[in-house]
Amino acid sequence: MISIRPTTPLGFNNQLDLSQLSDEQKALEIKNLNLFYGDKQALSDISMVIPKGQVTAFIGPSGCGKSTLLRCINRMNDLVDTCKINGEINLNGNNIYDTNVDVAALRRRIGMVFQRPNPFPKTIYENVVYGLRIMGEKNPRVLNEIVEESLKSAALWDEVKDRLDESALRLSGGQQQRLVIARAIAIQPEVLLLDEPTSALDPISTLTIEELINHLKKKFTVVIVTHNMQQAARVSDQTAFMYMGKLIEYSDTNSLFTTPVKKQTEDYITGRYG
Ligand SMILES: Nc1ncnc2c1ncn2[C@@H]1O[C@H](COP(=O)(O)OP(=O)(O)OP(=O)(O)O)[C@@H](O)[C@H]1O
Ligand SMILES: [Mg+2]
Repeated sequence: MISIRPTTPLGFNNQLDLSQLSDEQKALEIKNLNLFYGDKQALSDISMVIPKGQVTAFIGPSGCGKSTLLRCINRMNDLVDTCKINGEINLNGNNIYDTNVDVAALRRRIGMVFQRPNPFPKTIYENVVYGLRIMGEKNPRVLNEIVEESLKSAALWDEVKDRLDESALRLSGGQQQRLVIARAIAIQPEVLLLDEPTSALDPISTLTIEELINHLKKKFTVVIVTHNMQQAARVSDQTAFMYMGKLIEYSDTNSLFTTPVKKQTEDYITGRYG
């Protein structure tokens, strides 16, 4: 077995026994989740626990359902007419698919960042305060503080502190992605969902974002979809390998990459398919 673990790991793969977590340690618990787009089943009986304050990666070949599963976590699939879901996703013990759940409030608790940076055509400052303004925050002192704190957390402050009134669209791709992360964390979500956040970026920006993810997990639970196995090995504490809508194997990242239990996982991580 070829280990793809980096020679200089960033050193934050904590090993947790996923079957022994207390309710306190669970950020999310997915139970028997099935998802259909029309007649086509895209997720089959997914059950998994996502620990708090850690980074969990979803990996697997194109079309296996990684983004679909990620989007279930903040009910983005509600926007797809043909989509039907059964099963549960519990956030701190409450099922987010209960009928009385306020989806807008849920999305404030579970932020999301996509593959392509999508800053709004506004200033850097207005991008960061966007969610706060929607929530009614008007105090300039509070807004200024949160802008500074969020941009520092997103490792962007030093690069933009003198140009907060410039258009966000003038930033580089890597800076835009960090700005979008700052925008997401400005409203203090509990969970941050990242769908291939670096696949449109150059290697240096990718490294910056990977280091940033390591810092973010001190405050937030992070779930990341990535095509890049080295990235999963570098940034995540847990890794879930999916194949054709099923969760094939889920364990601490080190075990999954060095001693996978299932043959399909081994074939994938050694590059036999995908
Ligand atoms: N809105 C949609 N309507 C119908 N089918 C969809 C929709 N979105 C995704 N699918 C299908 O669901 C399956 C899973 O797609 P998904 O985008 O979750 O895969 P993925 O693992 O994220 O792939 P990739 O690595 O290419 O991003 C695929 O067969 C895809 O065609
Ligand atoms: Mg995807």
